[in-house]
Amino acid sequence: MRTLSIAALCLTAALPALARTPPASPVQPVRLGLCAGCHGVTGHASMPGVPNLAGQRLDYLRNALGQYRDGRRAAPLMRAAIGPLDAADLDALARWYSAQSPQSQARP
Ligand code: HEC
Repeated sequence: MRTLSIAALCLTAALPALARTPPASPVQPVRLGLCAGCHGVTGHASMPGVPNLAGQRLDYLRNALGQYRDGRRAAPLMRAAIGPLDAADLDALARWYSAQSPQSQARP
């Protein structure tokens, strides 16, 4: 009985720590390699003139990608990069970059 209540106590103590665990970020998109060369795997750009995407709002990223696709934003590099991708790929990439930490400078 005593062991049981100690176990229960430990479990209760561990719960807040579990609750603090950040939500799982999305699985790395299959097409991430197409973007990572310029925007980095975690959305911290590795080249001058390339914007960081980490932590940007999801709706903003989706919107921007749609604008490159339909030509409302004229950026030949971006147009070429997203050329072969379908809507599901773009959505997965927008989710991925949006879920990255804007603070982390770590580049795998
Ligand atoms: C050859 C380098 C290159 C590659 C590869 C590339 N990008 Fe970009 N990306 C850029 C540049 C440069 C810009 C800024 C263009 C502009 O002025 O609008 C940009 C802009 C963006 C923006 C708009 C950011 C903002 O703040 O408005 C998004 C979103 C984006 N890229 C996503 C992607 C995704 C997703 C991929 C992979 C499918 C990708 N990019 C591949 C160079 C690249």
